[in-house]
Amino acid sequence: MKIVRTIAELQAELAATRRDNKTIGFVPTMGNLHQGHLSLIDKAKEHAACVVVSIFVNPTQFGPNEDFDAYPRTFEQDCDKLNAQGADIVFAPTVDDVYPDYQNTPARPNLTTVHVAELSQDHCGGSRPTHFDGVTTVVCKLFNMVRPDIAVFGQKDFQQLAIIKRMVKDLNIPIDIVGAPIVREPNGVAMSSRNGYLTEAELEQAAGLQQTLQWAKSQLENHLLNFDQVEQSAIQRLEEQGLRVDYFNIANAETLQVAEKNDTDIVILAAVFLGKVRLIDNMTLSLS
Ligand code: PAF
Repeated sequence: MKIVRTIAELQAELAATRRDNKTIGFVPTMGNLHQGHLSLIDKAKEHAACVVVSIFVNPTQFGPNEDFDAYPRTFEQDCDKLNAQGADIVFAPTVDDVYPDYQNTPARPNLTTVHVAELSQDHCGGSRPTHFDGVTTVVCKLFNMVRPDIAVFGQKDFQQLAIIKRMVKDLNIPIDIVGAPIVREPNGVAMSSRNGYLTEAELEQAAGLQQTLQWAKSQLENHLLNFDQVEQSAIQRLEEQGLRVDYFNIANAETLQVAEKNDTDIVILAAVFLGKVRLIDNMTLSLS
């Protein structure tokens, strides 16, 4: 496994890969890797001969009061895990390499922003208004640096995945976007880098989010309650378990707009706070 730090080194490495006619798979990450990320590498290996993983904690997707500075940087351990998982290239650029104007204008290091309207607006976009513009802009930049054939994103970030799919469609970016299933802890909590902030007792408590999503899904599948009733009861259940609800929304799985009576492909999206830690999860279902 090669570790490259600059865009120039990456491109020299990938020129050789392209000369060998190898397909390139890409997994963008912010490091602090867990089993969920490693499953993305496996998925990329199913589709591509050479797998590039980026490790870049992207400042522009964090809000002013979020955990950019405190975000765990675990580069050595990440590289060991990626090597064992069979990644081919780790691309770990500096902030200055990705955003050459960052030191002068940290709040606005790019004059160009990629914004995916409508899909970015609600759910996580409602509570983190600048987040998805930071994600789409950096992913677009990384796509231009790596120029992969396919790129893999986890379904845990359902809204992010939908936004990236729409971005490549709208901007004619010739990359296939592949979604990979959520990987869960033994108690059902979706794996996330932020689970590392939880105590053991809180990790147990966090299971209430997945259980409530499961409850909501079964209410809808069995036509026991309508969308509004499920949302209201789910919020109450979460609050009773000490999980402060950021949002709990039942949406059309394609448009991410509020689900309507005749919608069949549904996603339930939720975010809760446990202390200061914000956790997200989702569940999809088909209604007949
Ligand atoms: O999902 C993430 O870890 C990040 O949002 C991503 C896609 C690596 C962009 O910084």
